[in-house]
This record gives sequence, C-alpha cells and structure tokens, in this order.
Amino acid sequence: METPTMKPDTVLILDFGSQYTHLITRRIRSLNVFSLVISGTSSLSQISSFNPRVVILSGGPHSVHAPDAPSFPDGFIDWAEANGVHVLGICYGLQLVVEKLGGVVKEGESKEYGKMEIEVKCGESEVFGRGRVGEKQVVWMSHGDEAKVVPDGFVVVARSAQGAVAALENRERRIYGLQYHPEVTHSPKGMETLKRFLFDVCGVSADWKMEDLMEEEIKVINKTVAADEHVICALSGGVDSTVAATLVHKAIGDRLHCIFVDNGLLRYKEQERVMDTFERDLHLPVTCVDASEQFLSQLKGVVDPETKRKIIGKEFINIFDQFAQKLEKEHGKKPAFLVQGTLYPDVIESCPPPGTDRTHSHTIKSHHNVGGLPKDMKLKLIEPLKLLFKDEVRELGRILNVPVGFLKRHPFPGPGLAVRVLGDVTQGNALEVLRQVDEIFIQSIRDAGLYDSIWQAFAVFLPVRSVGVQGDKRTHSHVVALRAVTSQDGMTADWFNFEHKFLDEVSRKICNSVQGVNRVVQDITSKPPSTIEWE
Ligand code: XMP
Repeated sequence: METPTMKPDTVLILDFGSQYTHLITRRIRSLNVFSLVISGTSSLSQISSFNPRVVILSGGPHSVHAPDAPSFPDGFIDWAEANGVHVLGICYGLQLVVEKLGGVVKEGESKEYGKMEIEVKCGESEVFGRGRVGEKQVVWMSHGDEAKVVPDGFVVVARSAQGAVAALENRERRIYGLQYHPEVTHSPKGMETLKRFLFDVCGVSADWKMEDLMEEEIKVINKTVAADEHVICALSGGVDSTVAATLVHKAIGDRLHCIFVDNGLLRYKEQERVMDTFERDLHLPVTCVDASEQFLSQLKGVVDPETKRKIIGKEFINIFDQFAQKLEKEHGKKPAFLVQGTLYPDVIESCPPPGTDRTHSHTIKSHHNVGGLPKDMKLKLIEPLKLLFKDEVRELGRILNVPVGFLKRHPFPGPGLAVRVLGDVTQGNALEVLRQVDEIFIQSIRDAGLYDSIWQAFAVFLPVRSVGVQGDKRTHSHVVALRAVTSQDGMTADWFNFEHKFLDEVSRKICNSVQGVNRVVQDITSKPPSTIEWE
C-alpha cells in the first residue's frame, strides 16, 4: 500500500542502531513536525524520495573504523548541500560526518558514558542559540571514540569537561553534530536544543497534525481500494484494530466488513461490551461469530501453552476463511484487502538497522498474532496505522470519536483467557471462575482510580486446590493469582505496588463472592525474569 505523500518539512532519521533512535522520532513528532526513521544504509534515491528538510544521523554501537561500519551512501553530503537539506549527526552520526569529511576520529583516552558537563566554546554557535562562551549544561554521553580533528570549515562549539568535542557545526554547509544524546531526558536541555535546531536553524514549521495524517490516509485508502472492491478486518476488541477499522470505514463506508469472533475465551461480558462500542458508538459493520463451542472442544485436554495458541490460531483462520467465502457469495467478488493495525514500532523492528545483531523481531511476536492469515487468500494489506506510535493511535482514535474509555483499555492477548487458565482451559468451571474474579479485580482497580496507571491487570486461574475454612466448614477450593504491571511497551514490566488495604478488600470480595475460591495470591515478579502472562 502507498505511503501518504511526504510533507516538505519531514525530518528523516537515518538509523545506525542506537537504542534511542525511536525516541528522536517521537520527540520531533511531539513538536508537531513529521519525522520518520529509515535504515542508515538506505540508498540516496530512497533518502531523497522522502523529500526531507532535515536529515538526522542517529547514534549507533559501532566504531567508524570497524570494517563493516555502516554509513550513509556516497554522494549523500553533496545531495544534502545541493538541496538545502540540513544534516545533524548525533553521537556516531557526528563521528561519521567527521570521518567522511576529512577529519579524524580516534578512540578517546577516557571514554564518556553517562551524565557529563559540557561547555559552550563558541558564542556564535547556531545549535546553542548563540549561547554565551562558558555556559555549561549537563548532557548524556555514550561514546568510546571521539572527534580528534574536525574537518576544514567546521567549528567546535562545545567541549566536555575532559576536553572532548561535544558539538560542532559548519553553518555554510548546514552540517551540525552533537556528540551527546539530546533526545534523552538525562540531557535536560536536549529538547530545547532540538527545538532550536529545527525551528531557528533549519526553519522547519510546526504544522504536522494528526488530522492531516488522517485525511491523507483516507485519500490513500480511497486510491488503493477500487470502487467495487471489498475489504475485511478482524476486530479483536483492542485499540489498534478498532482505530484502524474506524479509519477505513470513514474512507470506504460499508465496503468494509468486520468480524468479531467470540472464541469462548473472552473476559466477563466482553462480547456485549465491545459489540456495543462497535455498533452503537462507531457504527462499524461487524459480524459477531459465536464460535465458543468450536474453540473449546478443540482445546479440551490441551495443557501446553504453545499448542493452545496454535489451535486457537488455526480455528481463527478457519472462521476467517468462511467469512471471506460468505462475503464472496454475497457480493459476487472476493474481498481483496485486509485491514491490519500494524504500528510503527513493528515496522521499524522488522527492518533492523545495519550492523546490529537484531534480526526480525517477528519471532518474538509471531505468537502474539493469533489471527494469522491463510496463505492462499492472497489478500493485500491495508495498514493505516503503520506510521504511528501507540499514543498517536490513541490520539487518532479520539479524533475519530472512539470513546476515550475504550482507547485506554489494557492490552488483552489474542488467545485470551486460554493463557490465563493454566493447563486445560476446559477443566471444571475454570473459565467462569476466572471471569468473575477478573471482573472484581478490574472493577476494584477502576473504583480506586488506578486503571490508567497500570499497563495491564488480570487474574490467573491456578490448577491447584488449597485447604480453607469458610463458614466453619473446611473447604478444598481453587487458588487464584492477581497480576498487575506497569510497562512502556510490554517488553519489560514491573509489578504494580497496591496499597495493602486495596489488596485486602479485593481478596475478601473475591473469596466472599466467587464460589469455589478460597485463596488469593499476588504475583510480585517483574519481566524479566517472568513474562506478563503466565503462559
Ligand atoms: P508476555 O507474556 O510475553 O506479554 O510478557 C507481553 C504482551 O503481549 C501480550 N501477549 C499476547 N498477545 N497473543 C497476543 O495477541 C499472544 O499469544 C500473547 N501472549 C502475550 C501480553 O498480554 C502482554 O501485553
């Protein structure tokens, strides 16, 4: 699918593998300037196709002297100069500029890692807004090599306390470099420096808005999908697929056909709740398929988590396939497109930067995509969120009138409660017990005003019984675990520290109102070493 036309004020980031590259993009977008990341070794024609106003060369873990050190393509600097494009090298990016333009980069006598003080050495500097000589600021450094001799025409505008080059510039050629990371919060004035650089030095306008991106995406979708073609979308009840479907619906109306599958592994009243939002609030054309029996009968006796996932994935594909065939009969034409809620981090991660040992991250996430596609369906993809970060998807959702409460929902795994009932999901009334416990836990979290401070919270059904005493009677009932974590992206997580009073009340409520539960425990493990889900 086509990418929306690039704005003239695009800031393009060439990624050389720094762990902070995404952060640069996000910081710049937060200034209402459009920014994209591409591989640092992209060709000149790829770079110029984005028509950027500014190119930032990211940091990276390499030494410019390493035999396989990644670099921008030959002719890049000439192209930038000829087209009035400003270039900013950050960390490795600075060293690359120095090395390529005739300066000297060498291993520093003392390597600089962490917070360091730098001092403005040239009051005429543009990057520091003509700051006064002697002005100091704390920045975040992370480098072993340093620029020993700067190329002709460049001025050193700041140095570290150890005397290393911390910033340089060549105003005439519009090339700048910062040895530190302005994008991290440990560089308190870094954001101000980026702002100054973009607005004052490069003359970029802060006119990128989510509304523009939405209008452009709608145009692209309309151009991609011919007037007689149909599009399908599987809704999970999560934020991404809902926002993606709502956007596509805005573009092509009822030629979009959504399906929501009740696999019998949903939370308490989930089907009613999400169908209400889809139909009443968003007017999405959704077919709800109740396939609980089908899924649960396949899962009977299965205890291995990955086997559960595979069975669920396979069943889902069967249902999806039947849905597509039904649509073909109704409309006399096979659906040609599939909407997916792919986000920008997935796009970036699937093209790892050069020279890193990161390979496709899809191996980690493949089990997270339960709704894989039948290979012979040959559907073309529409991924209208593929340039957005999660918080931007929420913003787009707000513009599309997706209820705010819905946009803030905690993530829920595709295999649903199957990975929260340990072992056989069909054992006794495990699913029902889990639904009730989970609902009490989540509702208590909402009542305490904690829902938005938590990344994910849920209950887990443990396939063990413990002895208890309830109403003077000895019981031998189930144990449930409560899990709540904070996280940025689900890749790492910390357990959430509830007040004892809260835990005490939740535990009492659960044991008093859910039959068959006599013990509640809390999971106090972070990820790593645990994962968020128990299976
Ligand atoms: P873990 O358990 O790997 O979870 O720490 C990280 C995030 O991914 C979700 N998750 C899944 N999502 N299918 C999904 O769609 C899955 O099989 C799956 N397993 C885990 C989990 O809920 C958390 O948000």
